[in-house]
Amino acid sequence: MDIYGADYYPEHWDKSYWTKHIELMKAYGIEWVRIGEFMWSVVEPKDGEFDFSLLDEAIELLSKNGIKIILGTPTATPPAWLINKYPEILPKDWGGRTRGFGSRRHYSLNSKVYLDYALRIVEQYASRYGDTIDLWQIDNEFGCHGTTYSFTDDDLKAFREWLKEKYGTLENLNKRWGTVFWSQTYNDWDEIVFPINTPTFENPHQMLDIYRFMSDSSIRFLRMQVELIRKYSAKPITHNFMVDFMDLDYRKMAKYIDFVSWDNYIATEEYDPLRQSANHSLMRSLKHQPFLVIEQQPGRVNWRQVNNNYKPEYLAMWTKQAYLNGAMGVMPFRFEQIRFGAEQYHAGLLDYNGRPTKRLEAYSQVRNETSGILYPEPEVAIYFDYENEWIHRINHLNRNFRYWDALVDIYKAVKNLGYNVEFVFKDDEIDRYDVLIIPYASYISESFTEKVRKFNGPVYMTAMSGIKDEYNWITERMPWNLIDEFGIEVTDFGAITSDEAYVFAQPVTTTFWKDEIEVGNAKVIGCFKDGSPFITVKGNRYYVGAVLDEYGWKLLLSEVLKPRISGYGYEITNVNEDGANKTYVLNILPNETKIYIDGQLQTLAPFQLRLTIRQENF
Ligand code: GAL
Repeated sequence: MDIYGADYYPEHWDKSYWTKHIELMKAYGIEWVRIGEFMWSVVEPKDGEFDFSLLDEAIELLSKNGIKIILGTPTATPPAWLINKYPEILPKDWGGRTRGFGSRRHYSLNSKVYLDYALRIVEQYASRYGDTIDLWQIDNEFGCHGTTYSFTDDDLKAFREWLKEKYGTLENLNKRWGTVFWSQTYNDWDEIVFPINTPTFENPHQMLDIYRFMSDSSIRFLRMQVELIRKYSAKPITHNFMVDFMDLDYRKMAKYIDFVSWDNYIATEEYDPLRQSANHSLMRSLKHQPFLVIEQQPGRVNWRQVNNNYKPEYLAMWTKQAYLNGAMGVMPFRFEQIRFGAEQYHAGLLDYNGRPTKRLEAYSQVRNETSGILYPEPEVAIYFDYENEWIHRINHLNRNFRYWDALVDIYKAVKNLGYNVEFVFKDDEIDRYDVLIIPYASYISESFTEKVRKFNGPVYMTAMSGIKDEYNWITERMPWNLIDEFGIEVTDFGAITSDEAYVFAQPVTTTFWKDEIEVGNAKVIGCFKDGSPFITVKGNRYYVGAVLDEYGWKLLLSEVLKPRISGYGYEITNVNEDGANKTYVLNILPNETKIYIDGQLQTLAPFQLRLTIRQENF
């Protein structure tokens, strides 16, 4: 990797500490820092009174010592004077309550007054440091703490404008939203409100547009900042995306930044290494380019109910895992542990006394094992769409179903068979992949349908795919426009808790959803317990009429994806480097593990990363 660094907050320290911090950075190979993203009240202590002396000095000292700088724009933390002067900046939550000052991200993305102030401070940053610093980060974690959504008067006004732009006429909107249902017909744009605190289910077509609009509001703000910075600076611009986060259309957002960064924190109460890997792969797939882990959980965090510590070896393993998945760098959050503030319990690379921790040592050493950038070969593609995640949220057939969780199960199955996964989006070219999986893809655009038809390799498509149009109406027939391609038609469906079915005569568990399939010119290769068709194949087009777990997917896919590896507790990446086929294997467990790869037994020490040069392509 090229970027070894950490997130650093010079404003939290008396300047007398800075030199010591920088000495330690140099001693342990911290060559990059990200700074400045929460400094608004420091650099603009009063309306229009700017004081950059502290930031100037920090940047100068860091640069003089050869440390490269990612500068974050400070717009996630509008200061007290601003909120006091214009309380209407504060966002409103789903219940219509105002969210208060006193933490961060307390702003409505559609408040004109906020945007003016935010762009003013961004312009100050850009014009002052445009040539000095090395990279830019816009804001901090758009959407964090549920802040994608806000329902103020300004938001509503902007939503109406967004709708006018999209639908042109109210007649069109009424039709697309099906407002005749429950007497919701609108005669005036101003009659449209956010469905806040409604007695029961909201209009599903309106809800999808709300999710789109809210995501677009963040994207618009990011673009405003990007355009402004580009006037003053040629340095690359990024934004820090989040783990397991689906409120924003990151694919759309990623188009406006130079490279993707994300913050790698353990997503689930129970640590699940391959889920983190799925997040890495999703982030890589947004631009199909290497990405930066701009914040890496160092050990314990402070924001869980129970914040476990993780041994320093974990930090080394997380760094190796990022490397396996195409990272260009990993930056633990944060360099210095801090005794005050809302994150006082969060671990850092230094302890509360400013001494290097074992985490810092482990991070510093892992560099020896992570040189260069690995980019996984294109092998298996999983179709992904943020809008489909939103459609599933609105769907009331089985509210226990979680789109991303179900995709993570497929991801794990493919990885455990020994293959790389890349996520693909509707506007991606898909020819370079060997196998395509289209899971739970409610809405599939016409252009992607065309790509599916032309795809040469095997395609696996599942229940819930091609059952919606772009306005979130249910299609007349399903899977829409792919009935001939798969040789089946779904004639009915219903929710299930759990059912038994058979894949290659082996029992598997299906959950959430069950299709009734009318088989045309396809062959049935798996049935539900009641004998009805569950899996069909026409040529190399497979249809799966329910939700399978990781085990079921592994079984099903192993017909086409011959298992390349067996064992337990590993993650692999296949790359082609200098004409050689290489497989990197990482033991993701804190204990020894044994695996078979390429027919050879290998014993891996806890968290060990090993490279195997394969004699031939698998
Ligand atoms: C991230 C955030 C950081 C810090 C960190 C703590 O979500 O970007 O500013 O709060 O979490 O784990």
